[in-house]
Amino acid sequence: MKEELAKIVQDALSEAKKAGTLAEMNDVRVKFLGKNGAMTAVLKQLNNVPKEQKPEMGKLVNSAREQIESAFIGKEKALREAELNARLMSERIDVTLPSSDKRTIGALHPLTIIKNEIIDIFTTFGFSVAEGPEVELDYYNFQLLNIPKDHPARDMADTFYVDENTVLRTHTSPMQARIMTTTPPPIRVLVPGKVYRSDDDASHSPIFNQIEGLCVDKKITLGDLKGVLTAFVEKLFSRNTKVRFRPSYFPFTEPSVEVDVTCTICGGKGCRVCKGTGFLEILGSGIVNPKVLELCGLDPSEYSGFAFGFGIERIAMLKFGIPHIKMLYENDVRFLKQFR
Ligand code: DAH
Repeated sequence: MKEELAKIVQDALSEAKKAGTLAEMNDVRVKFLGKNGAMTAVLKQLNNVPKEQKPEMGKLVNSAREQIESAFIGKEKALREAELNARLMSERIDVTLPSSDKRTIGALHPLTIIKNEIIDIFTTFGFSVAEGPEVELDYYNFQLLNIPKDHPARDMADTFYVDENTVLRTHTSPMQARIMTTTPPPIRVLVPGKVYRSDDDASHSPIFNQIEGLCVDKKITLGDLKGVLTAFVEKLFSRNTKVRFRPSYFPFTEPSVEVDVTCTICGGKGCRVCKGTGFLEILGSGIVNPKVLELCGLDPSEYSGFAFGFGIERIAMLKFGIPHIKMLYENDVRFLKQFR
């Protein structure tokens, strides 16, 4: 048995030495140390050894096993390193080579283009830009804007309520109240931001973007509103765009006016889009209701102001002739590429 063990060790070491890959080495391991391997066979023979020789033979078997195991481990480690090195060499990348794939250049989203354009126009008029929270207190979204708890504009169908006193803002107008309660006039501010309403069709989305404008100072009149908004429309569309001011109603303005512009599709002749009128409505505005000034802590006998608000999506759809609001959110590159 002694000779047999010596032979197994010798064979195992020499076969391990010859193994050129980890896979080959694995075969060698199975052959000598596996369940049906040479060492297991010797171990079984130990049963037939006379009792008094067992301890000595056992020791021999163990030491042979250890010798083989440590040789195998050393060899396996060397093979692993060699294989890793070979892989690293073969996968080496020459970073100094010119790139073969052409990168496409990104572009601004049409909504961002329009938003930036509008901000640019109003900053030349002296407006600054502010942003506010999308999860808003009922207090700012409604109450300070003269929309008390029982007002029809509160219809649950339109407003996403977070809890009794908190909503997802339904318009950017609450920023009017936030600014008036914290900033002494003169105020000239523009507020872009996301707003939320339970509304969903070709021209409405439950989340959309608005821009709010507010100007508060001494002796602000409807004439200022007309002058500023006319100049804005002419810059945004074109100089020959006609602007129409129509009486309207908003709880936070008195009087309220809606602003229409020459239909961008037919140029004013009358078509399906403008329903034959030659005009399209683009924004709501008015003279800040004295009640709102008061609620926000400003003295209506000293100050007056005008405000306006509109949807960016609507302006983008009119300007670019986009037929469905969802096209602005799908991020289909074939659509987006057209605005580069
Ligand atoms: N907040 C209104 C809306 O979402 C738009 C609006 C109308 C804003 C008149 C104003 C305004 O500031 O004066 O429909």
